[in-house]
Amino acid sequence: MCGIVGYIGSRQAYPIIIKGLKRLEYRGYDSAGIALIDGDLKVYKKKGKVAELEEILIGKDLQGNVGIGHTRWATHGEPSDRNAHPHISNSNNLSMIHNGIIENYVQIKNELLKNGYSFSSDTDTEVLLNFIEDIKENNNSTLEEALRFALKRIVGAYCILLIDKDDPQTIIAARKGSPLVIGIGKNEHFLASDASPIIEYTKEVVYVNDYEIAIVRADELILKNLGNEKQTPFITKLDMELAAIEKSGYDHFMLKEIFEQPQTIYDCLRGRLDAEKGTITMSGIQQYAEQIINANRIIMIACGTSWHAGLVAEYIFEELCRIPVEVEYASEFRYRNPVINKGDVIIAISQSGETADTLVAIETAKEQGAIILGVLNVVGSSIARKSHAGAYTHAGPEIGVASTKAFTAQLAVLTMIALKIARAKNTIDEERYFLLCKELMEIPDKVALVLKQNDNVKALAEKYKNADDFLYLGRGYNFAVALEGALKLKEISYIHAEGYPAAEMKHGPIALVDENLPVVFVATKDSYHQKIVSNMQEIKARKGKVISIITEGDVVSPTLSDDVIILPTADEIVAPMLSVIPLQLLAYYIGIAKGYDVDKPRNLAKSVTVE
Ligand code: AGP
Ligand code: GLU
Repeated sequence: MCGIVGYIGSRQAYPIIIKGLKRLEYRGYDSAGIALIDGDLKVYKKKGKVAELEEILIGKDLQGNVGIGHTRWATHGEPSDRNAHPHISNSNNLSMIHNGIIENYVQIKNELLKNGYSFSSDTDTEVLLNFIEDIKENNNSTLEEALRFALKRIVGAYCILLIDKDDPQTIIAARKGSPLVIGIGKNEHFLASDASPIIEYTKEVVYVNDYEIAIVRADELILKNLGNEKQTPFITKLDMELAAIEKSGYDHFMLKEIFEQPQTIYDCLRGRLDAEKGTITMSGIQQYAEQIINANRIIMIACGTSWHAGLVAEYIFEELCRIPVEVEYASEFRYRNPVINKGDVIIAISQSGETADTLVAIETAKEQGAIILGVLNVVGSSIARKSHAGAYTHAGPEIGVASTKAFTAQLAVLTMIALKIARAKNTIDEERYFLLCKELMEIPDKVALVLKQNDNVKALAEKYKNADDFLYLGRGYNFAVALEGALKLKEISYIHAEGYPAAEMKHGPIALVDENLPVVFVATKDSYHQKIVSNMQEIKARKGKVISIITEGDVVSPTLSDDVIILPTADEIVAPMLSVIPLQLLAYYIGIAKGYDVDKPRNLAKSVTVE
């Protein structure tokens, strides 16, 4: 994710671009920058939010009718001034901003280094920019031709805006996999990642398609495909208001992020998992594969939702890799004077990468010789910098305080790591390995199917919104999902909810059950299914209200349930990425029904950077 803005026309570009970047800051806020052409090419950029960029611009020359701006969500190269966009080519003539990931940038960079190019950042973007320049210089081609040639050779996703000091009347744009909208004005054009920076100037927009290149001048917009064939721009009229657009039309960031999950899980797998070939490419993990393979134990350290992801991972790693796993609350671990043996592998799981308890816990473990691997969503975060290596979840900025898309992305990363290690240890047979790779690859589409149950869940929320308490029950892989569902409900609707291992009910909590208590069973088809059906009977016998999350084809559970949500079939190891979705939606709709601010629940913060 990141935010991209461009302007070309008769107005001063700077005010339009800086305002647009603020509207797109929800897409990423690691750093911000702007490039303007007014005779000379002027580039200003700064780590931090747009407001920090504005501070360094005071007194600067900000003239220019053409410009590009970027607010970054780092994927390659930690958040810093040098890694901020826009980047400048070696000739100092070209400047570019980019949203996306160039998967094969390392090979290209090595070639350019051999050709005498130098780099001032660690980003994949700067590599693409100089790749384009190298092609232009060596083939004496136009910038547009060089761009087209380069885009045919890169692997990954991009939306780029490119400007040339020697051609100040033109912005060249291109997209594949990352969004680009162009606003049509009178002798002016606006470019952005979504319509929010554009809508106050014009409601006529063109949504650029994948593999298209746009040649944009004040009075001209030319669209071409990579085959250099002109495409007819399809102009649509925006009918949304600005406020809605920043949430892409969703009422809240939480709902937007729940519905982003097919894409974010796909983004997490992309460039890593090849289910056909059975390969899992994770460079950060690869370099410590030996230590993980030979680890006497793995300790998952996290808080909240991330701790629940660690609990699912415990079952996966022990089942597939046969390595003992412990899952620790960071806040308990750090004060317990834990026994850490050299060679222990710690997996720190954190969306923000800034959770104080998790950060201190891994520092404690690291001092005692443990290997620290981070499964994190924010590149260059404090926990990332303290980890020896790891794998990013690439879920994009998670704005809603309740973690949703980060959780499923964490599960996707942890499952890939477990599969990679199990195959290296030979603790999984090839048939099951390939089956699970295929199952994992199918999850984004299955999540999209589950999201079609939105209205059913909304109806459930209306039915149960006035309950004073909820129980969430699950077994095995779904026990952690039950805990996660309960946490979502607590933090969004302020209703007391408790997650519990289903079999544990008879050891006391079943005394809570009466006709007023909704009991959510996370009961997708798995090796425990017959057992959890028995647990449903125990609740039903005591007049509890049973809400069951089940797998299509399950004909028994509905006979014991007051309400059911039916999910597609999936192997139990990957099923938590499906079974959590209705629980996220249930919490969201109950919170809405009770009139609460679901994006900013009371007493909470998105990142708990204090103890
Ligand atoms: C989850 O919905 C909560 N916002 C909270 O429990 C969160 O998961 C916890 O604070 C850990 O945050 P982290 O993943 O950023 O470390
Ligand atoms: N991959 C580029 C970088 O890390 C762009 C990231 C983004 O989309 O913000 O700088």
